[in-house]
Amino acid sequence: MKTPSISTLFFILFVIFSSSSAASADDHDDFLECLSEEFHNYTSISRVVYTPTNSSYSSILRFSIQNLRFTSQSTPKPLVIITPEHESHITPVIYCAKENDMQIRTRSGGHDYEGLSYASEVPFVIIDLINLSKVTVDAEQKTAWIGAGATIGSLYYRIAEKSPILGFPAGVCPTVGVGGHISGGGYGILLRKYGMAADNVIDARIVDVNGRILDRESMGEDLFWAIRGGGGASFGVILAWKVQLVDVPERVTVFTIDKTLEQNATQLIHRWQYIAHRFDPNLFIRILIRRVNSNQDGRNMTVRASFNSIFLGGIDKLLPLMQESFPELGLLREDCMEMSWIQSILYFAGFPIESREVLLNRTQPDVRYFKAKADYVQKPIPEYGFEGIWRLFYEPEAEEAEVILSPYGGRMDEISESAIPFPHRAGNLYKIQHLVYWEEEEAQNSDRYISWIRRLYSYMAPYVSRFPRAAYINYRDLDIGVNNNEGKISYERASVWGIKYFKNNFDRLVMVKTAVDPKNFFRNEQSIPPRWTKKDHQDYIRDMVL
Ligand SMILES: Cc1cc2nc3c(=O)[nH]c(=O)nc-3n(C[C@H](O)[C@H](O)[C@H](O)COP(=O)(O)OP(=O)(O)OC[C@H]3O[C@@H](n4cnc5c(N)ncnc54)[C@H](O)[C@@H]3O)c2cc1C
Ligand SMILES: *[C@@H]1O[C@H](CO)[C@@H](O)[C@H](O)[C@H]1NC(C)=O
Ligand SMILES: *[C@@H]1O[C@H](CO)[C@@H](O)[C@H](O)[C@H]1NC(C)=O
Ligand SMILES: *[C@@H]1O[C@H](CO)[C@@H](O)[C@H](O)[C@H]1NC(C)=O
Ligand SMILES: *[C@@H]1O[C@H](CO)[C@@H](O)[C@H](O)[C@H]1NC(C)=O
Ligand SMILES: *[C@@H]1O[C@H](CO)[C@@H](O)[C@H](O)[C@H]1NC(C)=O
Ligand SMILES: *[C@@H]1O[C@H](CO)[C@@H](O)[C@H](O)[C@H]1NC(C)=O
Repeated sequence: MKTPSISTLFFILFVIFSSSSAASADDHDDFLECLSEEFHNYTSISRVVYTPTNSSYSSILRFSIQNLRFTSQSTPKPLVIITPEHESHITPVIYCAKENDMQIRTRSGGHDYEGLSYASEVPFVIIDLINLSKVTVDAEQKTAWIGAGATIGSLYYRIAEKSPILGFPAGVCPTVGVGGHISGGGYGILLRKYGMAADNVIDARIVDVNGRILDRESMGEDLFWAIRGGGGASFGVILAWKVQLVDVPERVTVFTIDKTLEQNATQLIHRWQYIAHRFDPNLFIRILIRRVNSNQDGRNMTVRASFNSIFLGGIDKLLPLMQESFPELGLLREDCMEMSWIQSILYFAGFPIESREVLLNRTQPDVRYFKAKADYVQKPIPEYGFEGIWRLFYEPEAEEAEVILSPYGGRMDEISESAIPFPHRAGNLYKIQHLVYWEEEEAQNSDRYISWIRRLYSYMAPYVSRFPRAAYINYRDLDIGVNNNEGKISYERASVWGIKYFKNNFDRLVMVKTAVDPKNFFRNEQSIPPRWTKKDHQDYIRDMVL
C-alpha cells in the first residue's frame, strides 16, 4: 500500500475528531460501562460518580467555580464528574477516558481564570480532587504533605496549628487550590523572602497517562521539574505535594496606607518602582490601585493607591527601615499593626484577624464575573504612563477595575530562570495584574468589560516587558494564544503563548511532555504540546483507525 500523504492523514484525523467531538450520551454510557468493568465492584466507586441526571451534579459542578463568566447555560458541561476519595480511583478514570476519546479536566480549587479545569468544547469528564485534601504537617522536619485538592487556606491553618513560627510562601486568597496553584508557580506576600510556592516543593505524587502513581524518585527529575511551574494539566493528575516550610517570626507587622491622586499617589507609585524591589527582603509592599468616588476639586472620581504591606519583624524595626527606604510614604506607628503570621494571612485576605477558622471554608465570599491579564515591568514607567491608566480608569467599564503591582527582587533575584519552569526572576522590578470585574446585571454585556481590559493591555505595551511580553500561567489569559483543538497541537502555535509564560523553559517542557505523554492525552487550550515526528503521526493514525 502506498503511504498516505500527510494531508490525507490530517484529513482522516479531522474526520475522526469531528465525529468524536459530537458529544453524546453514548460516550458517557460507554465511559460508565468501562468504569464499572475496571472497578469490578462498581459500588465502591459509584458514590463518587455524578452524571447530569444526578440531583447533586449541578451543585458539585458549581461549587468550585470561581469566575461567574463560566456559569452560563452556554458554558460546556462535563459528561461526568468524579470526586475520588482515594488515589486508586483515578487510574480507571484515565483509562476509560482514553478508551472513549474523552478529555480529562482536573480540578483542585477551580480558580483557573479561564475555567480550564471545568469547561471544554470537546467531550470531557472532570476529576474533582476536593476530597483528596489532607494536609499533614511535620513541624520538626519543617515539611508538609498536602493533598492536591487542599486549599492554601487549609495549609496555612494546619501549619499554624502546629507552630507559630513556621509558614509557607503561597498565595493570598485562602480558597485557591494547591493543585493548580503550585503547579503554576504560586506567589504571595512571602515572595521576596522565600520565592514562589513551587520553589519550595521537595516531592510530589502524580498519576501519569498510563495510570501509574509516581513520586519524585519514580517520575524522575525532568517530570518533577516540569510540574513545578509548568502547569500540572499537561502532565498528569497531581495527587499531592511535599513542601519545605519556612521560618517566620513570632510577630510580623502589617499596614495599608491609602493615597489618592490628590495625595500624590502618582508620584508615590512612580517612586516605589525604583525602590520596592531593593527593599530588605523582609519587607513586601504591594500596591492595589482602583478608582473611587471623591468630591474634591469639583470632580467625583479619583484613583486610590493602597500601599499594602507586611514586614517580617516588629514595628520598632520597621519604622526606621521605612524612614530609610521609603520616607515619602510617611509611615507612622499608628498605621501599623503587629500580629502573628497566621493573622497576617487573614489580614491580607480581608478577614477579621481574630478567627482563623474561616481559612478552612472553601467558599470564596466574593465570586464575581471577571477577566484578568498579567504584565512584567523591567524599567520604571514614567508618571505620564500612569496618567494614561487613570484616564482608562474613568471609563464606565472600569468602575470595579483594579490594577495590582507586586514587587519582585530579594529571593526572586537569586533563583535562576531555569531552576523551575516559572522564569520571571532577576531583571523584573514588579508584576502587574490587571483585573476588571462586573456584576450579574451586566452579564449580557461581558464583552464591553473584556474589551476594556484589552484596551488597557494594548495601552500598556510600551511600558512593560517585550520579546516576549511575559505572562504568568496562574493568571491564565487565553487572549495571548491557544492551541488548535485537534489531536496534534502545533509547536509553533503553542510557542506563541508558551514563550510568554515560560520563556526559554518552554522547549524543555515540550521535551518532558514528549517523553511522558507522547500521544498528547492530557491537553487543553494552553497545554504543552509533544513534538511529533512523521512516524509518530503515522503510528497515531494507525492506532486511531484500528
Ligand atoms: C480569587 C483568586 C485569588 C488568587 N490569588 C492568587 C495569588 O495570590 N497568587 C497566585 O499566584 N495566584 C493567585 N490566583 C491564581 C491561582 O493561583 C490559579 O488560578 C491557580 O491555578 C488555581 O489553582 P486551583 O487548583 O484553585 O485551580 P483549578 O482551576 O482547579 O486548576 C487550575 C489549572 O491547573 C490544573 N490542575 C488543577 N489541579 C490539578 C492537579 N491536581 N493535577 C494536574 N493539574 C491540575 C487545572 O486542570 C487547570 O488547568 C488567584 C486566583 C483567584 C481566582
Ligand atoms: C462492593 O463494594 C461495596 C462498598 O465498598 C461493599 O459494601 C460490597 O459488599 C461489595 N460487593 C461485593 C460483591 O464485593
Ligand atoms: C448522585 O450521585 C451520588 C454519588 O454517586 C450518589 O451517592 C447519589 O445517590 C446520587 N443521587 C441521585 C439522586 O441519583
Ligand atoms: C467530599 O467533599 C465534600 C465537599 O467538601 C463533602 O461534603 C464530603 O463529605 C466529602 N466526602 C468525603 C468522603 O470526605
Ligand atoms: C504633593 O507633592 C508636592 C510636590 O512634591 C508637595 O508640595 C505637596 O505637599 C504634596 N502633597 C501631599 C498631599 O503630600
Ligand atoms: C458622578 O456624579 C454623577 C452626577 O452626580 C453621577 O451620575 C455619577 O455616577 C458619579 N460618578 C461616580 C463614579 O460616582
Ligand atoms: C463559608 O463562607 C461563605 C461565604 O462567605 C459563607 O456564606 C458561609 O456561611 C461560610 N460557611 C461557614 C461554615 O462558615
